[in-house]
Amino acid sequence: MALRLIHVGIGGWGGDWAVNAVPRVPTIERVAAVDADPAALAKGRKRAGIPEEQCFTSLGEAMDKVSADAVLVTATVGAHVPLAVEALHAGKHVLVEKPFAPTVAEAHEVLAAADEAGRTVMVSQNYRFFPAARTAARLVADQALGRLGTVHIDFRKWANSAPEAGHRHYRLVHPLLYDMAIHHFDLMRMVLGQEPVSVYTQVSDPPWSRFKEEASAVLTVTFDGGSVVSYRGSWVSSGEPTAWSGAWHLECEDGEIYWTGRDGPAGSAEGDDIRVTRRGDEGPVAEPVTMLDVPYIGRAGSLAEFARAVEAGEEPESSGRRNVASLALAEAAARSVVSGQVEKVTWGQD
Ligand SMILES: NC(=O)c1ccc[n+]([C@@H]2O[C@H](COP(=O)([O-])OP(=O)(O)OC[C@H]3O[C@@H](n4cnc5c(N)ncnc54)[C@H](O)[C@@H]3O)[C@@H](O)[C@H]2O)c1
Repeated sequence: MALRLIHVGIGGWGGDWAVNAVPRVPTIERVAAVDADPAALAKGRKRAGIPEEQCFTSLGEAMDKVSADAVLVTATVGAHVPLAVEALHAGKHVLVEKPFAPTVAEAHEVLAAADEAGRTVMVSQNYRFFPAARTAARLVADQALGRLGTVHIDFRKWANSAPEAGHRHYRLVHPLLYDMAIHHFDLMRMVLGQEPVSVYTQVSDPPWSRFKEEASAVLTVTFDGGSVVSYRGSWVSSGEPTAWSGAWHLECEDGEIYWTGRDGPAGSAEGDDIRVTRRGDEGPVAEPVTMLDVPYIGRAGSLAEFARAVEAGEEPESSGRRNVASLALAEAAARSVVSGQVEKVTWGQD
């Protein structure tokens, strides 16, 4: 039987989920949609063709009126924790958009509620469910080119053209670290198969940035397996834009893995690319790579994994318990902006 889902927050990005992700996954059945803003609810309802009787302006009302197993939270970040806790208290499983919570401490409130209720919490980190990222993770895990050393990642976009007045993106809290780099932090953990230990952040905003807080930064992240990642991310780059997953160079003992991804339309892996070059006596030699098959791409991948894990009674990939490490890296990186020091990454781990 499909997992019966209440979808909360369908006004903005959630409206896209309702059209391009939820209907793609046969193990998911949307039974209700919620948005606190009636105008946003009407817009999302119309866009996704959701029946009026399935639409509500509060999660509480939807849970009272409709039988459901789980809640998908794609509302504004500040509402993630209260909505997730409310759903868990009502005995629902929860899938929540990134970033999991505004702080690691608040993420722990959700984890405590999940433990108490005996329910699953997963964070949708959609960039995980793309073939190039998963193939890179497999090659690293298999030590296909020997041990992993240094990793270089570049993310470049130009998101600086909108006029300053009224543009919400410019006023986000830590727009690079929490809104965007959280994807790359989470991918670092997946691809390297290591957990972050410490981070140093140097803000590198150019004079033309219209963002209130950091839109561009250079980070050095140290991992528990000894790998060091050098990361450059920018929303205000005048250079050639990268794909959303960034451009990754993984230097291994016997050669290099290069990959990039998440560049096509919703639900498509167009633009995913991975290349392996082995170090030879006369220079690098390209080797063929077969990309792993990923049946559900991006957010559909999160939904399918969530439904599978709930059905099997297993901890999902990107469970809340695991994902708190990605959030902790963003939090430590933000602390480093203020302190100017290398910061330890802590999330209550042993
Ligand atoms: N994974 C990605 O690629 C990606 C891309 C964009 C946004 N996001 C994430 O998606 C989430 C939503 O982003 P957004 O830009 O649409 O946010 P937003 O601020 O536009 O909010 C989305 C909707 O949530 C509704 N909402 C707020 N509080 C609510 C509550 N208590 N109950 C019901 N509805 C409520 C709002 O009315 C709005 O319609 C964020 O977590 C964001 O980080 C992820």
